[in-house]
Amino acid sequence: MALNLKAIGKRIGPITSEYDWHDIVLYALGVGAGFDDLDYVYENQLKVIPSFAILSIYGFFNEFITLSGVNLAGILHGEHELIVHSPIPPGGGTLISDGRITAMYDKGEGRGALIIGQIDTYHSDGQKLYTNIVTLFSRLDGGFGGEPGPVETFEFPEREPDFEELAHPSPNQPLVYRLSGDTFALHVDPDFARMSGFEGPIMHGLCTLGFACRAAVKHLFPGEPERMVRFRNRFSRVLYPGEPIKTQIWKLEEGLALFRTVNAQTGKAVLDRGIVEWMSHQEAEWRAKAKGIRFDGQVAVVTGAGGGLGRVYALELARRGAHVVVNDLGGTPDGSGASTRPADQVVQEITNAGGSALANYDSVATLEGGQKIVQAALDHFGRLDILINNAGILRDKSFANMTPEMWNDVLAVHLQGAFHVTHPAFQAMRQQGYGRIVFTTSAAGLFGNFGQTNYGAAKMGLVGLMNSLKLEGLKYDIKINTVAPLAATRLTRDVLPPEFLDALKPEFAAPLVLYLCSERCPATGGVYNAGMGHYSRATVVNGPGIWLGDGDQLPTPEAIAANWQQILSLEGAQAYHDANAALMDMLTGSRERSPEAEAKEGQVTPAGGVPASVQSVFDNLTSAFQPEAAANVDLVFQFSISGPGGGDWYVVIKDGACTVEAGLFDKPTTILKMSDEDFLKYVGGQLPAMQAYSTGKLKIEGDPMKSQLVEKLFKF
Ligand code: NAI
Repeated sequence: MALNLKAIGKRIGPITSEYDWHDIVLYALGVGAGFDDLDYVYENQLKVIPSFAILSIYGFFNEFITLSGVNLAGILHGEHELIVHSPIPPGGGTLISDGRITAMYDKGEGRGALIIGQIDTYHSDGQKLYTNIVTLFSRLDGGFGGEPGPVETFEFPEREPDFEELAHPSPNQPLVYRLSGDTFALHVDPDFARMSGFEGPIMHGLCTLGFACRAAVKHLFPGEPERMVRFRNRFSRVLYPGEPIKTQIWKLEEGLALFRTVNAQTGKAVLDRGIVEWMSHQEAEWRAKAKGIRFDGQVAVVTGAGGGLGRVYALELARRGAHVVVNDLGGTPDGSGASTRPADQVVQEITNAGGSALANYDSVATLEGGQKIVQAALDHFGRLDILINNAGILRDKSFANMTPEMWNDVLAVHLQGAFHVTHPAFQAMRQQGYGRIVFTTSAAGLFGNFGQTNYGAAKMGLVGLMNSLKLEGLKYDIKINTVAPLAATRLTRDVLPPEFLDALKPEFAAPLVLYLCSERCPATGGVYNAGMGHYSRATVVNGPGIWLGDGDQLPTPEAIAANWQQILSLEGAQAYHDANAALMDMLTGSRERSPEAEAKEGQVTPAGGVPASVQSVFDNLTSAFQPEAAANVDLVFQFSISGPGGGDWYVVIKDGACTVEAGLFDKPTTILKMSDEDFLKYVGGQLPAMQAYSTGKLKIEGDPMKSQLVEKLFKF
């Protein structure tokens, strides 16, 4: 069977798992820790061996293999790379992992193929913990006509290793290690191992890797496993339980070492081409202080970051690990003049605190300026993950006295400016398949403010820009949101009551903006108010309104007047994800619709409310089952619910009975895929199935006709 190149990029998961100190200690025992490493095995002073992170890959192996279509007969785990973003909390919690195949490389006919899978794991507190990059070597799939992949050179120094660590894995080592998740028979069943061509059960390569990881921590950053940043190696030979191993380490510089692990009896490498990277004490302390949402390795552009709100966003992004392009023209509040000082000062503040930043003084108000700002990020830092469109000026005047120049200047900075920077940024983000963009609107645009027609038009224009762009960004994981801040800055200081100035520190807007910029942010296309520690969503809604006339006879203006209160009413108003959804609602709205049905479909919060969690829906699904609707029904629904609260459940309907199980069914009749948020709305009656399907929120695979039975078979 040929490799399935379409599998590249397809999301697998999320897979969630719970862990606590028992799991951490069991893993440590599995990779040889004992009284000599008490920190790894004693819950009162527990530290986590960084390679514990590798356990998150086990749920993905089968998916990588099935999706990629590799020939099972010739598959090996060729290389493994672990990138640690934040230390694994020893206190336990829930781990949420998302995977995808990122590449397939062709080594040539008879020389095999490489399948690269990546799994990102987050803690339930939102923190990104680590990324596992798995390279599967498929002996029998070469010659499919793909790219050969990058060629890497690797040489150990000619000198003797700087450190050596001898270890004696027990003859029973795989029996302990397998309890952490890899229960493949090759490591336990002598008959199976012999049938596979081995003398007996073999060590798990990842178990040997755990020994090597302990050795690296012990010699390079003793007692501080939380400083590990990267651990990579190639699996080169089989090792039998009980054979002694020696890990040889060459420290190249502070923060970088090479290693290999050899069979101490034969001297031959079992783990080869090893690389360890670790961070300094200072960096570790910095990270510990800014725990939680991190932007390590990401690149951000903040426009107008020389003062006010933009400065605070830039400082906070840098403190949490981002490289920041601090853009500011350095003009006066009305946009006149220019100076390099504001941007330089903020860059200085960031670098003084140990962060990474670059000043840029281009104006967002020109096409060329926008391009240069984005290019600065790409040239200097190599990518662009985050763009905060924040630059702004004011030229207030009542409309009667507003000159075309005042109108144009304000639109040039806010609206055109956002286009000038976002356009090249969006291209770069599209190419890398990831991005976060924030626009800045204002209450003056959302609700109106005397003397600010130019500013209000520009600020509401940004919301329109976002509304459509969010749809174009969906496919590339580019999330686009808008913030309406409220803060005391030079733009607002004079118009705000002095007693509120302290409470209106720009620092209060930053947490929401940073969340919108984070990888874990699920939202796109939202407008959020942020200031003084209060955060809320603002949105446009359609009221339920009223149907007048019978469709043939035109209603009269008098009928409008007579029903004005009902037309005005926003009780049960509905927000929409896009114009299609609003249109669908209109087109499918029925003149005969009963008030009860309207209440169910139209309310922002229905009487029953949305269920607490996806899990609770499946826990209670059998009670919602309608056996009388299930005569002669014989099928399996597979529900694949994405998002942090999601998971996989399958529902078997047979002989008038219903059973619900967590996990994946082999060949379900119909697969229904939705995000956790949409699924809860659907079950809660806020998102009709038809609307969900027509707007792409509900994806159906297998037999689509059978999906229509869901609403007959269950009364949610
Ligand atoms: P600010 O005046 O302190 O910051 C704006 C920054 O943008 C300045 O440093 C300025 O030099 C820079 N800038 C202006 N024109 C530029 C251009 N053409 N190219 C590059 N940089 C340029 O004001 P503040 O309050 O921090 O404003 C930030 C954003 O927040 C603005 O878009 C503003 O409209 C918006 N906003 C602020 C509110 C508040 O309560 N402070 C309320 C609602 C919106």
